[in-house]
Amino acid sequence: MRLRNVKDKENVLENAKNYIDNPERLCGKWQEEFKNNNDICVEIGSGKCHFIKQMARKYPDINFVAIERNRSVLALGLKNEIEDNDLPNLRFINYNAALIDKIFNREVKTIYLNFSDPWPKSRHCKRRLTHEVFLKKYDVVFKDERKIIQKTDNLEFFAFSIESLSKYGYVLENVIVDLQKIENNDNIETEYEVKFKKKGCKIYKLLAIKK
Ligand SMILES: C[S@@+](CC[C@H](N)C(=O)[O-])C[C@H]1O[C@@H](n2cnc3c(N)ncnc32)[C@H](O)[C@@H]1O
Repeated sequence: MRLRNVKDKENVLENAKNYIDNPERLCGKWQEEFKNNNDICVEIGSGKCHFIKQMARKYPDINFVAIERNRSVLALGLKNEIEDNDLPNLRFINYNAALIDKIFNREVKTIYLNFSDPWPKSRHCKRRLTHEVFLKKYDVVFKDERKIIQKTDNLEFFAFSIESLSKYGYVLENVIVDLQKIENNDNIETEYEVKFKKKGCKIYKLLAIKK
């Protein structure tokens, strides 16, 4: 994603009702934050939060946390579709997922990885969000069963994810190699998914579970 400095980002974040500053303080206390015992799902690299806002609106009985490390991108997301910013089951965090084990302690039901950066160079492979380095951190985050749902347009990254998740003990419950060919009314499109579809790219999707 091209980085663009959003000049009023501090103001936007400060005034967004569901933006969480210093999320480490909520580690182990997310149910208190949401004031219910509903499942908590997280999108890592939520960009402008187009996907997670739709999810939160569609599933009011599930709690959602958007994690985006780029402050400007998150602020842009919070300037758009603002009617969904205040949904009671949605929170926004500006955070690097490399430290995700500092903000959740056995509290998360599902992690969504939508069009995560593929880091194509092999010397950068440890930055991929499905690398073992991250899978180890996710272990601390998940409540009981571990569930990861990934969508990407990048076949090499998809293949890498399948191998990495399998080696780590995840079972691939569903692997889709062309999401558009599947009649799937449940699919909620992300911002990047819409862009890639317009370009004619195939969309790959997997559901991986580790009990
Ligand atoms: C290609 S965009 C996809 C955005 C959105 N998920 C979508 O599908 O439209 C990837 C996003 O992940 C964010 N990101 C990359 N690595 C991250 C990390 N370690 N922690 C949090 N966010 C990250 C980037 O800043 C970027 O906004």
